[in-house]
Amino acid sequence: MPAVRIAPSILSADFARLGEEVRAIDAAGADWIHIDVMDGHFVPNITIGPAVLKALRPHTAKPFDVHLMIAPVDPFLQAFAEAGADTITVHPEAGPHLHRTLQTIKALGKRAGVVLNPATPVSVLDHVMDMVDLILVMSVNPGFGGQKFLPSQLDKIAELRRRIDATGRPIDLEVDGGIDRRTAPQAIAAGADALVAGTATFTGGPDRYADNIRALRGA
Ligand code: DX5
Ligand code: ZN
Repeated sequence: MPAVRIAPSILSADFARLGEEVRAIDAAGADWIHIDVMDGHFVPNITIGPAVLKALRPHTAKPFDVHLMIAPVDPFLQAFAEAGADTITVHPEAGPHLHRTLQTIKALGKRAGVVLNPATPVSVLDHVMDMVDLILVMSVNPGFGGQKFLPSQLDKIAELRRRIDATGRPIDLEVDGGIDRRTAPQAIAAGADALVAGTATFTGGPDRYADNIRALRGA
């Protein structure tokens, strides 16, 4: 089992100093930079768009793990690809044609991810497993940082681990929401190999980032 990847969510960063914050989590050992894009329509919050990704791109060479919580999503895929996304992850509920959306992401030369809300069944992946590079399990309802981890998602993570292993393909299994020192080991034990962490990374300020990330890895 490879070491777990930690993807700090910049949703919990200081938005007035975002470039500096991205450099700080890079130096602190972040594997990926998780970018939460919200439209105030698909989820009840508004965050950032492609212009911000583009502005952040020169601040790190780490992969941008872009979580799109917007509907419709298809009209914006190219803009996020061109702004510097490495993985683009979409909710199946964000458009009528998940297969087409994934085809578009692959055609843009990016890694394609599918994210499952707490109530979204695993079966939504049945006929697109061959197209996905990453599966993201929401362990909170999307929209806000700082929410409580939903233990009901642990069975889903375990089921997805079995399904991924059966494909023999290197699909990342990432978990997002309420990850902290207590819940990270639970998600990893269930089969996750990548963890998003907003609050748990940024709490305490820049001097704490490296320790915070190390603690999530279980090091
Ligand atoms: C929620 C976002 C998460 C969020 C995680 O919609 O997708 O990435 O920022 O925040 P924490 O780690 O604080 O739960
Ligand atoms: Zn996210």
